[in-house]
Amino acid sequence: MIDELPTLEAEALAAVAASSMIDDLKAVESSVLGRQAPLSLAKKEIASLPAERRKDAGLALNETRRRVGEAIDARREELAGGERSAQLAGERLDLTEVPDHVDVGHAHVVTRTWEALEDTFVGMGFRIAEGPEVETDWHNFDALNIPPGHPARDAFDTIYVNHGTPGSALLRTHTSPVQIRTMLEQDPPIYIVAPGRVFRRDTADATHMPVFHQIEGLVVDREISLADLAGTIEAFTEAYFGPGFHSRLRPNYFPFTEPSAEFDIQRPDGSWLELGGCGMVHPNVLRAGGIDPEEWSAFAFGFGIDRLAQMKFGIDDLRDMFSNDVRILTQF
Ligand code: DAH
Repeated sequence: MIDELPTLEAEALAAVAASSMIDDLKAVESSVLGRQAPLSLAKKEIASLPAERRKDAGLALNETRRRVGEAIDARREELAGGERSAQLAGERLDLTEVPDHVDVGHAHVVTRTWEALEDTFVGMGFRIAEGPEVETDWHNFDALNIPPGHPARDAFDTIYVNHGTPGSALLRTHTSPVQIRTMLEQDPPIYIVAPGRVFRRDTADATHMPVFHQIEGLVVDREISLADLAGTIEAFTEAYFGPGFHSRLRPNYFPFTEPSAEFDIQRPDGSWLELGGCGMVHPNVLRAGGIDPEEWSAFAFGFGIDRLAQMKFGIDDLRDMFSNDVRILTQF
């Protein structure tokens, strides 16, 4: 066999070149370099050669085996590259195909109304503030001049949370506690609106939901007057509802403001819509927020978001807005 090394090498290299897959190549490798391969059996033959030939024969065999080994490695890399490209080609997705109809969703009507309100107030120079939905009774009531036993507490059908001292944690019944949190967090002047989710122990019907949305406004600055409040409500009315809409204040009572008012919007056809409450922030509320009422004065307002969405999109029953039935929601 030693005399046939060139032939054995040529055959081995031809077999390597002919293998077309990695698995074939493995079989070729064991048939040309494995224990039973001629190029392996040849090693034994060397021992039986005359001493003067052994060295050259050994070198020649090793060189042959090395070249065959290199050819196998090179072929393996070639095949691996090819198989990878074939796999990639097979997994390729045709993304040029465009379906003829795509259902694209949109934001919920309440979200759209909420965002439009934010945009209007931001355009007027207000910043957005936030507070937690689970509140302390102090932020929701006491700090807003509604001490324990105050009849106004009963007017809010409060949902209490089982946390800490009974009655000390609740789901906020209005966004007004954000007034307190904002005053405690930042120094005046303050110009904020706080949209948010609020909760009351109410049975759902066409005009009430136990979970609904409000937006709160608070302005704290030097020499803020009722005229500033009325002017701000009027500017908001025209900016949000459009030209031809106006506003008016009617005396009312809220514990956290003095004087307090209800504000209405007049539509271009002359009809009135009751929107929300407002007033000059009560000195007790400013003090609870860490603000000196001798130095600063403030007004606040608050109103519901859901009814605005309902009106804007012509939805008769409030429950339809929250049923999350896409057949209804996609109509708006
Ligand atoms: N928090 C009141 C409510 O939920 C609404 C309100 C009235 C907010 C007067 C105010 C305000 O900021 O000044 O009924």
